[in-house]
Amino acid sequence: MNSIRRPLIAGNWKLFHGGLSATPLAQAVVAISRELDAVDLVLCPPFTALPLVAIACHNSRVQVGGQNLYPKDQGAFTGEVSAPMLRDVGCKWVIVGHSERRQLFGETDVGVREKTVAALAGGLIPIVCVGETLAEREAGKTLQVVERQVRAFLDVLAGHSVAIAYEPVWAIGTGKNAGPAEAEEVHAAIRSWLGDLADRTRILYGGSVKPDNAAALLGCANVDGALVGGASLDAASFGGIARAAQG
Ligand code: 13P
Repeated sequence: MNSIRRPLIAGNWKLFHGGLSATPLAQAVVAISRELDAVDLVLCPPFTALPLVAIACHNSRVQVGGQNLYPKDQGAFTGEVSAPMLRDVGCKWVIVGHSERRQLFGETDVGVREKTVAALAGGLIPIVCVGETLAEREAGKTLQVVERQVRAFLDVLAGHSVAIAYEPVWAIGTGKNAGPAEAEEVHAAIRSWLGDLADRTRILYGGSVKPDNAAALLGCANVDGALVGGASLDAASFGGIARAAQG
């Protein structure tokens, strides 16, 4: 594996730990990160906790990311947060097009592309999420859906090293994860669509990743890390996944 594809374990805290409880959780992850020099770690708390988490992670190997962004830098867009604002509070990363945004907040492939452009223009590294629903998987459309989602933003990645997260919607928060063979099939397909970017793009798996299934998933040739939801809310579980990535 080349150095760009070092294992990356990102925690998506979703709508949890948006206040003072963010600090001890981030500090505990920083403490664990000291033993893990072969893994890149990113924490994505709610917007309100970003400054606290950035302070807790300052001068550590743990980097910080937003969970979403608005594609304009500033203006009359009540309630939104832009790439420059995320940078200002210490973010290096941003999650784009998470399935919860697509499903609950109406984000489209076109919107995901626009946000990917804005993230890159603002100097953030996007973790762009793709994945099929249960109905799409059962209809045999997994690769077709994921290919459409990837091709919607692929051309804007030229010259950049980003992360793509494959998160099958049916595996998120359900305790069901794609088995290593199921994950690897989709990851290998995504890699094959990337062309020149294949060696410089980390493809993360997300969906019920836990310390006890992490090693098998991370052992797949085309799985370069994980985007972790529930298990990132506990430093010991997140650390267990990160240790599995360290090998
Ligand atoms: P869970 O790990 O809770 O299934 O969530 C996955 C996810 O959505 C990460 O972005």
